[in-house]
Amino acid sequence: MKFLLFTPTATDEVVALFTRVFSASEDEDEGRSIGHLVSSLIATTPADALIGCVAKEGERIVGAIFFSRLRVPNGQQAFLLSPVAVASEVQGTGVGQGLIRFGLDQLRGRETDLVFTYGDPAFYSKVGFVPVSEELVQAPYPLSQPIGWLGQSLEGNSIPVMQGRTECVPAFANSDYW
Ligand SMILES: CC(C)(COP(=O)(O)OP(=O)(O)OC[C@H]1O[C@@H](n2cnc3c(N)ncnc32)[C@H](O)[C@@H]1OP(=O)(O)O)[C@@H](O)C(=O)NCCC(=O)NCCS
Repeated sequence: MKFLLFTPTATDEVVALFTRVFSASEDEDEGRSIGHLVSSLIATTPADALIGCVAKEGERIVGAIFFSRLRVPNGQQAFLLSPVAVASEVQGTGVGQGLIRFGLDQLRGRETDLVFTYGDPAFYSKVGFVPVSEELVQAPYPLSQPIGWLGQSLEGNSIPVMQGRTECVPAFANSDYW
């Protein structure tokens, strides 16, 4: 298994992966919706505000993740990890965790301070994320599942208290995602 940075030439393959994985894990509507989200993320996010990573088995992409810039009120450099997909056939074999660790290393190399995500704490706690209370750092939109608002400091510091909402890239600017 190789972990590499995403390049736009892989867009169709990566969109198809997200669509397939979420169709299988949720349903076809969700698969389509996540496929559209990923297309929009790639098309509308400035290059310096988006980092994608893929896992390749031979020539085939079997996992993908994206980090997009999250503006935080105290001005630290922060990214949002979302979405994440691993091909159904290789789930549960460490690809997801390996890919996220690879991505976090890429961010460390770009002087990122903080990474946030919104998902299942049982999975993301395996790669260093801890619950973030909204009194500490507000998400960009009101959260339907506040328990899923998670973060980590890449320097191992605690996450500082911040006043005011964070701001996501346009592709995530939709309250339905939160
Ligand atoms: C969630 C997902 C990215 C995990 O990747 P993966 O390669 O299967 O996970 P890994 O093999 O690296 O890690 C497996 C561990 O994570 C746990 N895990 C995997 N998927 C999980 C999930 N959806 N919720 C909670 N825990 C999960 C497993 O229990 C396992 O724990 P263990 O090592 O203690 O047994 C992948 O299963 C996936 O793409 N699922 C469908 C889409 C999805 O739910 N994306 C994430 C949205 S938040």
